[in-house]
Amino acid sequence: MVRSRIAGIGKYLPAHVVANNDLQSVMETSDEWIQERTGIRERRYGIKHEETTTTMAAQAARVAIERAGITVEDIDFILFATLSPDYYFPGCGVLLQRELGITSTSIGAMDIRNQCTGFVYGLATGDQFIRSGMYKNVLVVGAEMHSMGLDYSTRGRNVTVIFGDGAGAVVLQPTQEKGQGILSSKLHADGSHAEKLAFINPGAHGGYHNRYLDEPVDYGYGNEEYGGIFLTEKMVREGMTYPYMDGPFVFKLAVQKFPEVIQEVLSEAGASIEDLRMLIPHQANLRISQFVQRNLKLRDDQVWNNIQKYGNTTAASVPIALCEAVEAGAIQRGDLVCLAAFGSGFTWGANLIRW
Ligand code: COA
Repeated sequence: MVRSRIAGIGKYLPAHVVANNDLQSVMETSDEWIQERTGIRERRYGIKHEETTTTMAAQAARVAIERAGITVEDIDFILFATLSPDYYFPGCGVLLQRELGITSTSIGAMDIRNQCTGFVYGLATGDQFIRSGMYKNVLVVGAEMHSMGLDYSTRGRNVTVIFGDGAGAVVLQPTQEKGQGILSSKLHADGSHAEKLAFINPGAHGGYHNRYLDEPVDYGYGNEEYGGIFLTEKMVREGMTYPYMDGPFVFKLAVQKFPEVIQEVLSEAGASIEDLRMLIPHQANLRISQFVQRNLKLRDDQVWNNIQKYGNTTAASVPIALCEAVEAGAIQRGDLVCLAAFGSGFTWGANLIRW
């Protein structure tokens, strides 16, 4: 039976460290508030107008490709997960192909828009391409340059303090070795609360007539909407062009869905929580991870957390944390590893891997 294994893994974190105190100098917040509610001490920001989501992804991808013992020309499919793409379109998949210098046009490139769950969805998708025999070297990337799109005024503090920049990448290859590789993946979606954690402007959503918003909102669309212009002067002036998050709502759902999907993926593979060597939860909030750990009765050494250093890097958080755990020697060949994520959509999911 053919399965996919992670043949190489890499990460990239920009050098610029932004501590909680640095944010305190531009908005009303405090190191104490941020650490108490989220566990975050600092995050990284890419270099404005120089680094992008794609360039950071390329840095992580080059490491993953080298560790897989292949060259960029061997990559036959790219899956790119991000919510902070360089362009509205085309997606980052093709931009990464160009950045890596892949000249072959036989390669496919696809973008995944599943926010914090993007990498877990990407891994499940890449796994299917490998199992079907369609591709042999699938590059799965999660990368984010959040720092370019956050509200640095007090108005945006509940969101801004949480997020950071970074990238993680893996190369998936087929393996015939019994019991090795990605054993199972579970993916879920519930769009009924889509606007609870969302970045909707600019978008083609109909403005005032968007029937999914609790209250009608006037975005200042005049005749412009017929011209296909999604961004209005009013949106910019009134700060409508930033992410929105109903934090407490997200928190309550996340702590419910994480344990459920972890149990689900374990049970499908005929494994139990005691078999788990390492849980790599999406780094949403340290309090969420701690809640999940307690709920599943996992020891400290069975859960990898690094949100304290990097903040929430959305689609990049799972591969960055996995890479860090591997580099630290906390995951060894034969170990059972679970990746799990929950995020905007809402979507949630998990992958179970025999390393
Ligand atoms: N600094 C200081 N005060 C802040 C703040 C900040 N950065 N952000 C919000 N506050 C204030 C609020 O304005 C509010 O003040 P008020 O009581 O005077 O109105 C107060 O803190 C409490 O706000 P609330 O949103 O209820 O806080 P909370 O305890 O729920 O914590 C989060 C906020 C965002 C940390 C928390 O809800 C959370 O982590 N949710 C999940 C978020 C997440 O994981 N997102 C990613 C999903 S993938």
